[in-house]
Amino acid sequence: MNIEDINGLIADEMMGVNRCIQTRLNSEIVLINQIGFHIVNSGGKRLRPVLHLLGCKALGYTARQHIDIAAVLEFIHTATLLHDDVVDSSEMRRGQDTANALWGNEASVLVGDFLYSRAFQMMVEVGNMRVMEILAEATNTIAEGEVQQLLNINDPDTTEENYLQVIRSKTAKLFQSATQLSAVISLQAPQIEQAMADYGMHLGTAFQLVDDVLDYSSTSEEIGKNIGDDLAEGKPTLPLIYSMRQGSAEQAQTIRSAIEHGGREHTTEVMAAIESTGAIDYTAKAARLEADKAIAALKEIPNSEYKDALVQLAEFSVKRTY
Ligand code: IPE
Ligand code: IPE
Ligand code: MG
Ligand code: MG
Ligand code: MG
Repeated sequence: MNIEDINGLIADEMMGVNRCIQTRLNSEIVLINQIGFHIVNSGGKRLRPVLHLLGCKALGYTARQHIDIAAVLEFIHTATLLHDDVVDSSEMRRGQDTANALWGNEASVLVGDFLYSRAFQMMVEVGNMRVMEILAEATNTIAEGEVQQLLNINDPDTTEENYLQVIRSKTAKLFQSATQLSAVISLQAPQIEQAMADYGMHLGTAFQLVDDVLDYSSTSEEIGKNIGDDLAEGKPTLPLIYSMRQGSAEQAQTIRSAIEHGGREHTTEVMAAIESTGAIDYTAKAARLEADKAIAALKEIPNSEYKDALVQLAEFSVKRTY
């Protein structure tokens, strides 16, 4: 089953989600529409809605709340991207100029706020306290993860455990909400809800580990973002943390200094250290282990083509190149 097959399983629902996204993006303020449509129509993978919809199908959900919740998940994700590209000074996303590059930081932050608050209006309309509880906690955790990551910038002593905590918070938490909410609205027993939450948390962790690998190993054509941004920002992600631990004293010193000062001057030496210590492999293996845990969590879920698709998406989170 490839990504097209997976999308085919939820094509009708996704049409509803996209319709909802377009409608709810509207504002009387022209700049909100411009920036909103720019980012929303620039071709993201819609992975969080896809996971939520497939989870609902896998659990036999038959009502319509999943459409709105999927749109809410994408709005929250999009808001974090608008803010993230400001914080990371990124100039390219989804193969296009970022909103901050086109309209400036102020506009990106404020339209990000619009999307966040629109997401909250929409989830209130859904009218389910557990749904609100889970999404409110998720957005709060994302913010904590981003702030913790900010504190880790230029700090070469950031531990692997601290790094993992950051990626679970800033990225995996929203994936977890997406899949847990499938169980919540399908009124599943606590152990199924826990299984779906564990699946999303592990998949999301694998997804960010791979994102951090791709920042060193992909090309901007392939991922639609500038690569090398993490190093330029002095961000201690796992490839660097591992290279410092495994490399020679000289390599460790090179990486320490690159993290402390950021910039792109030391890219060649850092890449050489990453290469010779096998840091990409180590990080990719960590992602593989997370994906395996995600798949293992699904043993609680009844077999179906939807469950097969969830397994394939855990695979995709590790094998993806974009
Ligand atoms: C990008 O997420 C941000 C990360 C969590 C790494 P996606 O890779 O899901 O972004 P789009 O929506 O497909 O562009
Ligand atoms: C993911 O981290 C950020 C969010 C959860 C918003 P990154 O900063 O690595 O994401 P990209 O690489 O810019 O998409
Ligand atoms: Mg970023
Ligand atoms: Mg970031
Ligand atoms: Mg990244």
